[in-house]
Amino acid sequence: MKDASPQTIFLKDYTPSDYLISKIHLTFDLDDTNTQVISKMNVSANYDFKSLKRDLVLNGEELTLNKIFVDGAELGADQYELIEDGLVIKEVKEEFILEIHNTINPLANKALDGLYKSGSIFCTQNEPEGFRRITYFIDRPDIMAVYTTKVIADKAKYPVLLSNGNPIDSGDLEGGKHFVEWLDPFVKPSYLYALVAGDLGLVQDEFTTMSGRKIDLRIYVDKGNESKCDHAMESLKNSMRWDEEVYGREYDLDIYMIVAVDAFNMGAMENKGLNIFNSAYVLADPKTATDSNFFGVEGVIGHEYFHNWTGNRITCRDWFQLTLKEGLTVFRDQEFSSDMNSRVVNRIANIKTLKSRQFVEDAGPTAHPIKPSSYIEINNFYTMTIYEKGSEVIRMIHTLLGADGFRKGTDKYFELFDGQAVTTEDFIHAMSVANDNYDFTQFKNWYHQAGTPMLDIKTSYNEAAKEYSITVTQSCKPTPGQDEKKPYHMPFGLGLVSKDGADFPLKLKEVFTAQPQIEENILHLTQESETFTFTGIDHEPVPSFNRGFSAPVNLKSDRPLSDFVFLMANDNDEYNRYESAQALAIELMSCLVKDAANGVPLKLDAPFIKAYGELIKDESLDNSFKALILDIPSEGILHQAQDVVDFENTFKVRKFVKETLAKTYEQELSAIYDSLNVDKEYSLSPEAMGERELKNLVLGLLLSTGNSKYEDLAYEQFVKATNMTDEFAALTMIIHSDSKYADEVIEKFFIKWKHETLVMQKWLTAQASARGEKTLGRVKELLSNEVYDKSVPNLVRSLIGTFTANYTEFHKASGVGYEFITNQIIDIDKLNPQMASRLAGSFKDYKRLPSDLKALVKTSLERILAEKDISRNVYEIVSKTHADS
Ligand code: BES
Ligand code: ZN
Repeated sequence: MKDASPQTIFLKDYTPSDYLISKIHLTFDLDDTNTQVISKMNVSANYDFKSLKRDLVLNGEELTLNKIFVDGAELGADQYELIEDGLVIKEVKEEFILEIHNTINPLANKALDGLYKSGSIFCTQNEPEGFRRITYFIDRPDIMAVYTTKVIADKAKYPVLLSNGNPIDSGDLEGGKHFVEWLDPFVKPSYLYALVAGDLGLVQDEFTTMSGRKIDLRIYVDKGNESKCDHAMESLKNSMRWDEEVYGREYDLDIYMIVAVDAFNMGAMENKGLNIFNSAYVLADPKTATDSNFFGVEGVIGHEYFHNWTGNRITCRDWFQLTLKEGLTVFRDQEFSSDMNSRVVNRIANIKTLKSRQFVEDAGPTAHPIKPSSYIEINNFYTMTIYEKGSEVIRMIHTLLGADGFRKGTDKYFELFDGQAVTTEDFIHAMSVANDNYDFTQFKNWYHQAGTPMLDIKTSYNEAAKEYSITVTQSCKPTPGQDEKKPYHMPFGLGLVSKDGADFPLKLKEVFTAQPQIEENILHLTQESETFTFTGIDHEPVPSFNRGFSAPVNLKSDRPLSDFVFLMANDNDEYNRYESAQALAIELMSCLVKDAANGVPLKLDAPFIKAYGELIKDESLDNSFKALILDIPSEGILHQAQDVVDFENTFKVRKFVKETLAKTYEQELSAIYDSLNVDKEYSLSPEAMGERELKNLVLGLLLSTGNSKYEDLAYEQFVKATNMTDEFAALTMIIHSDSKYADEVIEKFFIKWKHETLVMQKWLTAQASARGEKTLGRVKELLSNEVYDKSVPNLVRSLIGTFTANYTEFHKASGVGYEFITNQIIDIDKLNPQMASRLAGSFKDYKRLPSDLKALVKTSLERILAEKDISRNVYEIVSKTHADS
């Protein structure tokens, strides 16, 4: 460990800062290894200074201190003290100007936190605690200041010099240098500060706001990539319009800039007026980007834009409040994407992510509430839980209050808290007062309890009384540090479907509480166990539970499997048609995994085969929806239903089910492929994307029949493809089916695309996710390929991250997969602790592994913990995993 014993930070220990900083002027003289930083700050005491007189403690990491001045007078060595990760100023006044001169080494910064170089571009990443790696500062989000920046750099190498806000001055300097000065008039926390310098290409456009102001829109990219910015620019304009229409929020500065860089830890960052993006979420053209890449660009552009109001204008008081901005902003970007594309398809995609990733996190060693009460390393808390579950919690508030009530709530939120750093309680307060003091007391349990609730539902029908009852019992398993859970208040979408397919009107027999128990077919669940009885139900209905996935929970019920078959075809809630197909497949496949383990020959349930065939033949279904509903549950989803995870048999069963279905419906599938595989002008319309999606899903099924003519078909698609969606789908399927064409397409694709790093990332992904003994050897070989670079997170994620999700190879009984990843974690941690700690998360299944694998993982975890200099990031994840046995 770097620190002898890493400190745990607690929410309960929050206190306001002793000092505030209202203004800061920064000067940068940029140099690869020796950048000079001068920071001039207006500091004032925020406590009873006269009687208490406390030192000023500033954060600072990886900095070289040169000089300090207080009100213009240089401090002597006895007037300050350098401490571990900080600086203490003893010469303080109630109000003073503090000037600090320090130097930093951007080129050596491979953690990609603070000021660093991505290729030839200088850029910054300051959320959550990167600013302290630029200069000494009170680096916490409740210190809100007005920032001015003067950037100085070599004019030939760095013609473009950017920072937040508006440019106010510029000019040439001696020695071939020049400068630009920027002023951001809005107060902001240090994590939203940004600086960029480079020789960048520019794409420009304009947006006129609802009040008629013209905004200058600029996307800066590496020269040569300008033609790949159309979709990002269109998405930005759509985002700006959407936030005006749906939330009444207008953009506030005169200029909005986005810069794309290749070396970036995350997807993108919402710095005020100067977003910095991972190039994967800006650059997209049909030749090099897949449909899902296009979709990703739109969503991330929207997300960062929406932060301007939910995150920047109103920010977080401290990092325990992270879901205040992230959960809310994910909810906003999901709704934006639903409005721009097919709503149900987008909702299904979002729920798939939640279930396959957040539910796993919530059941594992790092489970935490959306508002955690402690952390060791805050970077480890940018999680699926804070983001995706956080968004579902906001969505429940939206469901409880209705769209109008929710909008009244956000209006109130902006009215009360604009320009402030606030808490999740403040958000709930605004929602409540704008809605007749709506009572969120019980609802707040969602903020403080971890774990995915389970609803156990029993049904009964009383034919004589024509009454139908459901009894819902909620429970939530213990999570680290939390054994007892209180019941949640949740909205529960319900439909009772009659035999002709129509919904019965829902009329509750008795109403017990002051708050309404049902509104627009949404029940309010509040008790550990409660029974709802509906009247006027003249025959036994098929119930459709949790429609629209109104609450983020797991379900079990006493309903027969035939109900799922009925709902797959008849549910009036489209989401639940999909969900019923999944639930049925999960149930059947879970039994098959047990059969496989016991050596029982595999046989697929006939009614399921039939129902699946009905879906294949249903021409009324939208193609994207059809592709989703025909996609059988993933291995990860099946693992969740297992007490002890069985990687080999899960893979085997999935393969068997695909093969069985494909062989049964080979004719129909082949006809679908042919009908969709026609020359057409490329379009990004939802219809066109749906056609490609279904076509490629069907090709995958056909390949699983083992008939070699489909290998030829896939090869033909690969060779003839004119867009990356079809080309990459064919490449992946050829590699994954271990076809005779595999080596050839790997080589061809490489030669064609080796100069496009985003495409090479796909190439690495396709190979690292292939099954079979060869894969690990191939992955190791690729580490020294010319396109791979371990200091670029996208490449690490594509090669190493993908391998950790290759269940059968990563969890090999011999332990070779674990050994490889353990070495990678230790190696990458020396460069980039955030990246290493994400990889360390791949041991999350530790507790549920079979005993031989568990012993191997234990050795790996202990090997990591025994390393001398592991980061706090990796320490927190690995020690929590190790403790969870
Ligand atoms: N504020 C984050 C970026 C960030 C994440 C900074 C972690 C520091 C640490 C940004 O708004 C964000 O959430 N980006 C997401 C993409 C988004 C669409 C969910 C990301 O980077 O993954
Ligand atoms: Zn965000």
